[in-house]
Amino acid sequence: MIFEKEMIEITEANKEVQTLVNRRLREQNISGIGPMQENMHVFIRNGLNTLNKNLSEIAVLEMGFGTGLNAILTYRENQVLRRAIHYTTVEAFPLPASVTDKLNYFEYFGKPLQPVFQKMHSSNWFENISFGDFVLNKVQADMLELQLDGAYDLVYYDAFSPIHQPELWTFEVLHKIYDACKKNAVLVTYCAKGDVKRTLKSVGFDVETLSGLHGNKEMIRAIKY
Ligand SMILES: C[S@@+](CC[C@H](N)C(=O)[O-])C[C@H]1O[C@@H](n2cnc3c(N)ncnc32)[C@H](O)[C@@H]1O
Repeated sequence: MIFEKEMIEITEANKEVQTLVNRRLREQNISGIGPMQENMHVFIRNGLNTLNKNLSEIAVLEMGFGTGLNAILTYRENQVLRRAIHYTTVEAFPLPASVTDKLNYFEYFGKPLQPVFQKMHSSNWFENISFGDFVLNKVQADMLELQLDGAYDLVYYDAFSPIHQPELWTFEVLHKIYDACKKNAVLVTYCAKGDVKRTLKSVGFDVETLSGLHGNKEMIRAIKY
């Protein structure tokens, strides 16, 4: 859980990070069980778990490492799936340890995953860090500038919303993602805006609208056929 006092400290230390933390709090309320359930629904249940069961190696690209929630949820799910997952995550503004140390996800995950999560946060950027059959590569970069040279099976598009960061939902960026996807790759995002669907279609994805958690919101799954 992030406290007001720490936010003020972050503001003084780094105004840019503070803005992002505030935005994240407003958009997804990072403490408590809500975001875990939502991210499980969007990224794991409707993304990871829908991939072809014969894929023994899965290359994941995440837009926005943020609090590391999707990374730890994927690691946790893979304890059942037992595939070789290579997880590349792009983050322009890493959160400081003073913030990530306060995340209370372990009330939900249980303590055994806490050291894995801590290592995910403390490990170096631009290195392949092995957690058994899950390999994490954190890339500190601006998605707008980054040249993607991977070939991905699954994309977690977890950028801030188009209202806050329209530049991350443009034809150019989504086309770059499309080009970096393998045939039959799946992109999932919590966002279901009409403009985003149209842009995903125009870059070549086949777009489906799925119901969000508890059916109260919609989400997008896009497939590159
Ligand atoms: C919705 S949050 C991601 C949440 C994260 N997936 C999680 O599980 O906690 C969006 C993230 O995108 C990052 N971001 C914003 N602009 C970016 C850019 N141009 N390139 C890369 N990352 C960016 C933000 O710092 C933020 O961490």
